[in-house]
Amino acid sequence: MRDDVPASPAPERCRRLQALLVDWFDAGQRGLPWRRTSDPYRIWLSEVMLQQTQVERVIDYYERFLLQFPTIEALAAASLDDVLKLWEGLGYYSRARNLLAAARIICERHGGRFPSDSEAARALPGVGEYTSGAVLSIAYGVPLPALDANAVRVFARLFGVKGDPARGETRRRLREIARATVPDDRPGDFNQAVMELGATVCIAGRPDCLVCPVVETCAARAAGLETEIPPRRRSSTSAVTEVAAVARDGDCVLLMQRPHDSYWPGLWVFPSADFDGPNPGEAVEALLHQAGLEAEAGHTLLELSYGIMDRRVELTVLCTEVGGEPTAERWRWVALAEIEDLAMPSPHRTIAQALPGG
Ligand code: ADE
Repeated sequence: MRDDVPASPAPERCRRLQALLVDWFDAGQRGLPWRRTSDPYRIWLSEVMLQQTQVERVIDYYERFLLQFPTIEALAAASLDDVLKLWEGLGYYSRARNLLAAARIICERHGGRFPSDSEAARALPGVGEYTSGAVLSIAYGVPLPALDANAVRVFARLFGVKGDPARGETRRRLREIARATVPDDRPGDFNQAVMELGATVCIAGRPDCLVCPVVETCAARAAGLETEIPPRRRSSTSAVTEVAAVARDGDCVLLMQRPHDSYWPGLWVFPSADFDGPNPGEAVEALLHQAGLEAEAGHTLLELSYGIMDRRVELTVLCTEVGGEPTAERWRWVALAEIEDLAMPSPHRTIAQALPGG
């Protein structure tokens, strides 16, 4: 198989692929809540939640979000804290911030309706090529591709595109293939069928070719390369160590709100920082001194590991005696009973739950 096949696939082949995939989707698609609506807001919300997140995890969040914010207008009127609280545990919190900012713009400039024009959609915060293609094709029937990671894998295999999809030339070829294959008729169902195939059959590693509805058209399978395409990416995770302080004053604990230009933007955490020295206690004391507090680190309360972006974090949580009031912005003493109402990332929620009375 050559790697320099023409980027634009033959129309006959596209039609065959469209028919097979849409039939397969009609016969066996998963019954997901966002497939029972044509409301662009709901479809947009589902597409945002589904980025980087498995379907099974999204369903509950989706339903709860819509109970509280059933319309774009209701969302636009919400506070960021309320939106983050509903997003707690779903990760990639900038999605929630962008969703709120976009909802406000939609209310101000688009009459409260997600725009059906691709340029207007893509001008919204957090709406890129993928999200606009997915929402416009599913909600409005606009024939635009929706190339998420699953679709990339499906197209790379079907058309035998061997390069690394993260690289410019390969990525351009896959986009060209996706543009050429999306049909004018039922583009949303076609896009969802491609993504669904990637999520359930044409999976990374070992695809289940025996049940694949388009195996007869698959270049990778014909060449025996279905497990080699696309090439596996080497993980570039870095290992880091962090410390966190649990400082109590009666029924209150000390928390800090993460800055908006970092990961976990706007979420509440126990004071924490990277450290790579031999003594986590000194690191905690230095951190609290910077916030204007006298501090003496005590025993280890908990050790946790978690992943965030491309970091694998080992976190040591220390009990800490503290005196004074924090002078740093966004640091607060919070009553234990109130912690439940704040949005916290999962590792810090675990710490809160480990506290006596927490
Ligand atoms: N992944 C993200 N959005 C999807 C959708 N609408 N259908 C199937 N898989 C998806």
